[in-house]
Amino acid sequence: MKRTDMDEEMRREERGERRVSIIAAVASNRAIGWKNKLLYWLPNDLKRFKQLTTGHTIVMGRRTFESLPKGALPNRRNIVLSRIVGNSEEHSDVRFPGCDCYASLQEALAHCREDEDIYIIGGASVYRQAMGVATRLLLTEIDDTPAEADAFFPPYDDWKAVSREEHGRDEKHAFDYAFVEYVRE
Ligand SMILES: NC(=O)c1ccc[n+]([C@@H]2O[C@H](COP(=O)([O-])OP(=O)(O)OC[C@H]3O[C@@H](n4cnc5c(N)ncnc54)[C@H](OP(=O)(O)O)[C@@H]3O)[C@@H](O)[C@H]2O)c1
Repeated sequence: MKRTDMDEEMRREERGERRVSIIAAVASNRAIGWKNKLLYWLPNDLKRFKQLTTGHTIVMGRRTFESLPKGALPNRRNIVLSRIVGNSEEHSDVRFPGCDCYASLQEALAHCREDEDIYIIGGASVYRQAMGVATRLLLTEIDDTPAEADAFFPPYDDWKAVSREEHGRDEKHAFDYAFVEYVRE
């Protein structure tokens, strides 16, 4: 763990706060999606997402779940938010196999243990709601403005970058991108 990460973690523990991370791939205009699909295919970003979230808990909106090609992501606790399906066990097993389902973000968090490492994985509506409870943002910032987008990440000007790892485009990545971690100012 890096020094800044350790300091942040110690401060959080002192405050008795649980870690809730928002993780997203964001274009220069904060676009994140179009027609319920991701905008970019960046293998290194997918690899990082897997490394960070495996073994932990991911929380997503119903539409993001429906966009996953093979349903629930393996080796993680998958939580789906849906006001319609709510927490009806019977329905959620059918609609969201392998997932827990809750009717609100607060309810979902209330059903997580204090030591559970929680990653909010989208989409736009869930990111907006989670900005108030998140302790850090793990963003992949892509140096591009897509021609079309209908889902956007909320503004995050009042967050402070604590680490930034820049990557240039290459044969597998069509754009420059950076892994940036933000904490509250
Ligand atoms: N770039 C990225 O990193 C990234 C990551 C994830 C997703 N995305 C993109 O984001 C887009 C989807 O975002 P979206 O805003 O349209 O959909 P979304 O947030 O994934 O899902 C919205 C649905 O989630 C449920 N929901 C949301 N908040 C809830 C709450 N507090 N309590 C209970 N249920 C709640 C509702 O389901 P019901 O209607 O069933 O009640 C709502 O209709 C897609 O384009 C996707 O590809 C991008």
